[in-house]
Amino acid sequence: MVFTSLVDATCRPRIDALIPLCKDVAAVDINMGCPKSFSVSGGMGAALLSKPDLIHDILTTLRRNLNTPVTCKIRLLKSPQDTVELARRIEKTGVSALAVHGRKVADRPRDPAKWAEIADVVASISIPVIANGDVFEYDDFQHIKVATGASSVMVARGALWNASIFSSHGKLPWEDVKREYVRKSILWDNDIKSTKHTLKEMIMHYSCLELPEGKAVIKSESLADLARFYGEEKYYEFVTHNRFLLNGRR
Ligand SMILES: Cc1cc2nc3c(=O)[nH]c(=O)nc-3n(C[C@H](O)[C@H](O)[C@H](O)COP(=O)(O)O)c2cc1C
Repeated sequence: MVFTSLVDATCRPRIDALIPLCKDVAAVDINMGCPKSFSVSGGMGAALLSKPDLIHDILTTLRRNLNTPVTCKIRLLKSPQDTVELARRIEKTGVSALAVHGRKVADRPRDPAKWAEIADVVASISIPVIANGDVFEYDDFQHIKVATGASSVMVARGALWNASIFSSHGKLPWEDVKREYVRKSILWDNDIKSTKHTLKEMIMHYSCLELPEGKAVIKSESLADLARFYGEEKYYEFVTHNRFLLNGRR
């Protein structure tokens, strides 16, 4: 596996590193939504929102040099006017779509997403807008589209807690989804940290991490540990012994 930085020290994209990747991706998205300190302290994520000239630079450079569609994701700015102004500037760079998370940088996940301010953006630009924030049920996909006029929807926590949110037949019981998630993690040899993170999110949402299940997940150090706890040892053994054959038919 090769690791390479896709941006330089000024957070501008490294075109030389991006061009080879573009043959394997459908689009390049610039994430200006992440408010976490590891992003912001490095001038990335939501830190970009206060630097419209840099945003313009990054997006126009990508548009000029890549044959792949470029999109980006923003959060709401302090006022609806500021957000609209930024969205218009972003649109002018020629990006294919803009995702808008209906929260400001200082908002917490429990604060309601402001769908009305996403609607202001949709009304002001012509490129597709992807609305994001507080989609927790299948019907919410339609609700947010109607409330904002957005052409598409992005969902994070709703899918993390119960991936069957995408089913028009209604959500499956989370216990069933969790078991399937454990099996898929084994089958795809998913990273243990990522698997544990998702399981902990599901348990925190539907149950409690302090209960024995939560404690067992926290203590697990490998997929084998998780398989043992969830009674999937036979499946784990089957998959690990036949991985070479299974890889061909995922
Ligand atoms: C585990 C997790 C990781 C996330 N990572 C990012 C990220 O790297 N960049 C970003 O812009 N937003 C990130 N977000 C925020 C989501 O993309 C989304 O904007 C936010 O959760 C609101 O959508 P929701 O109400 O559907 O959860 C993350 C959210 C979660 C739950």
